[in-house]
Amino acid sequence: MKQKYLILNWKSKVTYDTALNLLDAVKTMADANAKIVVCPPYPILKDAIEWFKGTDIEVGVQDVSALPVGAHTGEVSAELLASMGVKYAIIGHSEVRARHKLKNADVKEKILAAQKAGLIAILCIGEDEKAYKTNKTNAVLKKQLEECIDERVAGETLVVAYEPIWAIGTGHAATPIVASDVIAHIKCITDDMYPFVVVPVIYGGSIKANNIADFIRVANIDGALVGGASVDPDEVLKILGVIEKKS
Ligand code: 13P
Repeated sequence: MKQKYLILNWKSKVTYDTALNLLDAVKTMADANAKIVVCPPYPILKDAIEWFKGTDIEVGVQDVSALPVGAHTGEVSAELLASMGVKYAIIGHSEVRARHKLKNADVKEKILAAQKAGLIAILCIGEDEKAYKTNKTNAVLKKQLEECIDERVAGETLVVAYEPIWAIGTGHAATPIVASDVIAHIKCITDDMYPFVVVPVIYGGSIKANNIADFIRVANIDGALVGGASVDPDEVLKILGVIEKKS
């Protein structure tokens, strides 16, 4: 099976001690046949980068500033992160969009800043429950993609994460069939935007050890973005146990 993404978004769910335990749990599975990316809060980044040196496990962040290095108190620039060894940046997560009232144009600026610094941008898109229930999912996602991506955004360093808002943290994941259908729609749009690049598209929203296999075995789902389950060491080990070992 081709390598799928397994991206762990710890959100703000750890303290320093629990984070170090989790780093150990993730490291035991460095031989899994998957592209594993751990996204801890900023203060854990340096530890995470040290922990995974010499393995294929990469480190990402959960958000990034659109602003360059400069007099921007409170911001964390993409250049700083890249210079530390961070490789990925989750951008436009629905929790960040809601908290900071981000518009798609703001998300685009963050993607551009991340890519300019050499980071791979993981663009999160997803519809709310009302849009889902009224069959507006595809229209909402198309608008998000068109407004978050323009010709300056590089397809080579872009991953799209389909994260339906109604599935995040609720225990009600989309079914693999629904996720696969929506991802097919997303891929039609990204194929149009990037005729010569394959942009990976992954699913996130209530992924746990007991359902992850149902998603990653679907051919067009390129991996999973895991939130809550990624901060439970037992779940992490079970999830990683589902993924085959490198041969
Ligand atoms: P949960 O796995 O907790 O539903 O969160 C998904 C998510 O937001 C990952 O970015």
